[in-house]
Amino acid sequence: MKGLFIRTYGCQMNVYDSERIRDVLRPLGYAPVDAPESADLVVVNTCHIREKATEKVYSELGQLKRMKEASGGRMTIAVAGCVAQAEGEELIRRQPAVDLVLGPQAYHKLPEMIARASRAIGDRLETEFDTVEKFDALPKTRDADGPAAFVSVQEGCDKFCTFCVVPYTRGAEMSRRVDDIVLETRSLASQGVREITLLGQNVNAFHGPAPAIEGGEDWTLGQLCRHLAKIGGIERIRYTTSHPRDMNDDLIAAHGDTPALMPFLHLPVQSGSDRILKAMNRGHTAGQYRDIIARVRHARPGIAIASDFIVGFPGESDADFEATMQLVRDIGYAIAYSFKYSSRPGTPAAEMHGHVSEAVKDERLQTLQALLRLQQTEFNAAQIGKTLPVLVTGKGRNAGQMHGRSPYLQAVHFDGPESLNGQIVDVRIVGASLNSLTAELLQVREGAL
Ligand code: 5AD
Ligand code: SF4
Repeated sequence: MKGLFIRTYGCQMNVYDSERIRDVLRPLGYAPVDAPESADLVVVNTCHIREKATEKVYSELGQLKRMKEASGGRMTIAVAGCVAQAEGEELIRRQPAVDLVLGPQAYHKLPEMIARASRAIGDRLETEFDTVEKFDALPKTRDADGPAAFVSVQEGCDKFCTFCVVPYTRGAEMSRRVDDIVLETRSLASQGVREITLLGQNVNAFHGPAPAIEGGEDWTLGQLCRHLAKIGGIERIRYTTSHPRDMNDDLIAAHGDTPALMPFLHLPVQSGSDRILKAMNRGHTAGQYRDIIARVRHARPGIAIASDFIVGFPGESDADFEATMQLVRDIGYAIAYSFKYSSRPGTPAAEMHGHVSEAVKDERLQTLQALLRLQQTEFNAAQIGKTLPVLVTGKGRNAGQMHGRSPYLQAVHFDGPESLNGQIVDVRIVGASLNSLTAELLQVREGAL
């Protein structure tokens, strides 16, 4: 727990605002304390109404500055309310001990601002957010127990989508060193791993330092993929999950010039409505997303596109939802995950107006999922008649049957010997359903049997 001290000046409105500030900070682990000296965060909630109010605030800030110094700089000082609104950045110029200034319209940004400020002094928030909840569950790197393995390359997130707890629970965005990733990948390859999936909450924000011999500069995810593709035994590379804002030109180019990079891109868009995307703080429009997908498809024709969607975000109208449906029709997804918006206390969206009823959320989810299922079934059916390389990952349900995965991450079942396990074999696709493909074994690459 961290100590929170709020000094409230002025009217009843400010008292109410202070309560809201206290409420949005509780999930970040802040509990009220009686005196500023014992606080990790002091919020001065100001009022402009009376003469000299501003001077009074500056004199209080002077005292807080001395307490902050006594705390070794660990105290965070925030100024809220009308004086903050009126003075803005001038407050920080006149009193550099102030860390944050927020006007009355910005309370919903407070969790993000506090999280950023506490990271800046190298602190980690002990949040009350449930860290094992479903949206936050990523598989961990582990010993190879099959021909496909995960390699963690990046952690944390700085995007602060207004519905999401990850930036608070997982902390600041950071990348692993390329050397370490290469060592782990080599070790996996020596254990028979053929396919690696590079993992990160925001994996395409990857910017890990390259090996000294390669110049030591930060590399993009595209550069990392090209490098890992050279490791003997590694035939397939995937990465998940990405943010549209980090879909840079080099990574898009890598999809065209690196055959080991599998033709599958999970690029969540969440909504097709610009108004909702803005309220979600996604930092991109639907048009920009469409443009990225067009460029990716140009670099790698036939690439499978996947996404995540949230329906019923606060304020989502029928027209906003229709914009999402239209985006789905236009893009055409191979697979997608969709969720009803669920309010996470302490996140900015939880404080927003216009929460959508469960009944409407249910209806929209069903409508969206029906379309997504149709597209998934069509995408799978389009593979019938094609010859695809399949990485064999184990025995199938029936005797004599094996299963594996296609380049597009589809599950594939076919009759074949167990000795194929861990190999990449060519199969002809003969059947398709919503969740899998059936195939006939065509040829076994040399040495596989
Ligand atoms: N409500 C609903 N869906 C959410 N997701 C994340 N947070 C929420 C929330 N509060 C979804 C997003 C994200 C996926 C991992 O989980 O679609 O991309
Ligand atoms: Fe959460 Fe992903 Fe947004 Fe980061 S980019 S805040 S992890 S939804």
